[in-house]
Amino acid sequence: MSRSAHPAGPRYADVLPEGHYTPPPADLNALDARVWSRTVARDAEGVVTVGGIGVKQLAEEFGTPAYFLDEDDFRARCRAWRDAFGADADVFYAGKAFLSRAVVRWLHEEGLNLDVCSGGELATALAAGMPAERIALHGNNKSAEEITRAVEAGVGRIVLDSFQEIVRVAHIAERLGKRQRVQIRVTVGVEAHTHEFIATAHEDQKFGLPLAGGQAAEAVRRALKLDALELIGIHSHIGSQIFDTSGFEVAAHRVVKLLAEVRDEHGVELPEIDLGGGLGIAYTSDDDPREPREIAVALRDIVTRECAAAGLAVPRISVEPGRAIVGPTAFTLYEVGTIKELPGLRTYVSVDGGMSDNIRTALYDAEYSVALVSRTSTAEPMLSRVVGKHCESGDIVVRDAFLPADVAPGDLLAVPATGAYCRSMASNYNHALRPPVVAVRDGEARVIVRRETEEDLLRLDVG
Ligand code: LLP
Repeated sequence: MSRSAHPAGPRYADVLPEGHYTPPPADLNALDARVWSRTVARDAEGVVTVGGIGVKQLAEEFGTPAYFLDEDDFRARCRAWRDAFGADADVFYAGKAFLSRAVVRWLHEEGLNLDVCSGGELATALAAGMPAERIALHGNNKSAEEITRAVEAGVGRIVLDSFQEIVRVAHIAERLGKRQRVQIRVTVGVEAHTHEFIATAHEDQKFGLPLAGGQAAEAVRRALKLDALELIGIHSHIGSQIFDTSGFEVAAHRVVKLLAEVRDEHGVELPEIDLGGGLGIAYTSDDDPREPREIAVALRDIVTRECAAAGLAVPRISVEPGRAIVGPTAFTLYEVGTIKELPGLRTYVSVDGGMSDNIRTALYDAEYSVALVSRTSTAEPMLSRVVGKHCESGDIVVRDAFLPADVAPGDLLAVPATGAYCRSMASNYNHALRPPVVAVRDGEARVIVRRETEEDLLRLDVG
């Protein structure tokens, strides 16, 4: 691109690596519906609203930083997944993306099931009244206490992840006089096109038992021998933030192949397969995620086809979306504190949160969008790096983003699509107080997870 044609001025192209220059959007005040939750809009004064409430009012009432969750959008996404898969399939929301008692109640009301991966998530689910039979327990190293609690509560399934666990769960179930429904998690050997840390189906990693080499088949053999276990199916989760369906199709193909082998060896047709979560969402306008319906049709087609070829009855399918349900439903609201223009480099805009409320940028090089939301501006676009207030130079919230050049201390910025893996991965680094989650719906806002206080911090520090 010729430097003189550069809409944001010559210096901006220089600071971005070759080939990575994306011109600023035509209108910095526009809100791309792909990255903002459904009820987000600008009011007549130019203030961004969610659920009909302006962000200035929200900031005044709840402070910043804070996550604002669009409840209508959350519920609509639950329904979209449930309707896409229909009554003969199950949708398990992956609680690790974000879990609170209010969320559990919404899931229950919207007819979803829940996947938990720790004792803490299980406790939250049970405390909010999710029926135990609609809960699945995951984890590659569940403790005896976690397994005991899950079996006692009567969870619908425990997903077994190792040879030791097969025996452990059987032993605990036997001791409690119960027969536990279980699935076996397998790795199908798919290279999902996503960040290494969130890809989970290649063989060289800690989750699941590989299909290749026969460990998965051996796990089935062992589980079928134990009376305290009712083996209901096979589980595969190929990774996270995935945009194309081909990885799921390969996984479905290989899992059905195992079902056929199990039928041939044991004369047993396992009735269920779980194809995990992982559907990507739009963090920026460049992302183009698939709709739940597309995923549902693709998975159903491939499973039906493969089963027909293998002479198997079509098993009940389940999926476990986390990010695709909650991710797009929330934004983080920050207040700008300081601004540093480094001539010839870039402008650093510091906000009152950072890596303690969103670790994803630092951890996965995740990309986010950001907008000035407390007002509109006609100032020229300024390439900015939105950074937090932590004592670490990697404390970046949004690496490269255009903000209006007149952005000033006291302005409110919002980072959309922070509903998944932001509050749930939040930390107290630098003794930051983890922000609240506020649910907004029909002109009403209510705290569903309150802001931490210094008393909370000191309560744990026993001196
Ligand atoms: N099922 C299983 C067995 C999983 O391990 C996961 C995610 C899910 C379902 C839900 O995946 P989702 O639909 O949300 O992509 N912290 C990372 C993501 C880690 C995902 C771990 N497992 C991130 O922030 O991108």
